[in-house]
Amino acid sequence: MGKDVIVACDFSSAEQVFTFLDKFQERKPFVKIGMELYYAEGPEIVRQIKARGHKIFLDLKLHDIPNTVKKAMAVLSGLDVDMCNVHAAGTSAMMKAALEGLTRPDGSRPLLIAVTQLTSTDQESMEKELLIEKPLDQVVMSYARTAMEAGLDGVVCSPLEAGKVHETCGESFVTVTPGVRFADGDAGDQKRVTTPAKAKELGSDYIVVGRPITAAADPVEAYNRCVKEFVG
Ligand code: C5P
Repeated sequence: MGKDVIVACDFSSAEQVFTFLDKFQERKPFVKIGMELYYAEGPEIVRQIKARGHKIFLDLKLHDIPNTVKKAMAVLSGLDVDMCNVHAAGTSAMMKAALEGLTRPDGSRPLLIAVTQLTSTDQESMEKELLIEKPLDQVVMSYARTAMEAGLDGVVCSPLEAGKVHETCGESFVTVTPGVRFADGDAGDQKRVTTPAKAKELGSDYIVVGRPITAAADPVEAYNRCVKEFVG
């Protein structure tokens, strides 16, 4: 699996994201488009960023009945993104339907990744509200295994879980890991953070980095530093 740095473009308008991307004249970063930008600008923003030569992770985290997810994925597959995702909590039937919808007539498709348990959910809320009483790390691994058995390509997880996910699901099962900060940087609202170099050591395949790059005084320099530490 080719390692890469994915830049989380958490902006609320096309203007802001293009001002940001215009700075990158050499290496074009792999870009993550999340709900904020997609809901603000619609599918056209995906086409425009793709046309500028970026790979795209469309992070919309689908979760609905299998038929609805299958049809939504068929629409997204026409956008020519490189990676997209669903919630593993939608169950195996939903994940299989997502894969079917995503697969183009020629058999090609973007990578499909599962969100396991959101990092904003802790043990207490999982037990009290979701009535899931197993330890959180076991729940994450169970979701990962179910995603793999459904035929998905990988999961979003913490770099700290990447090694265990690979042990459970195999080396080629992709780990996409947010929560990355430079050793001398500000963690912000991320609770468990890892440097790009440490994420590499722990076996992450892709790191997702937002504010350490988007809010840096020199975003290109921050991106290049991430690539140097993570990809080498
Ligand atoms: O700015 P920062 O580097 O914290 O951005 C991380 C990105 O990864 C954000 O787009 C955030 O929504 C996403 N993410 C995360 N933790 C997860 C899943 C996604 O931080 N568990």
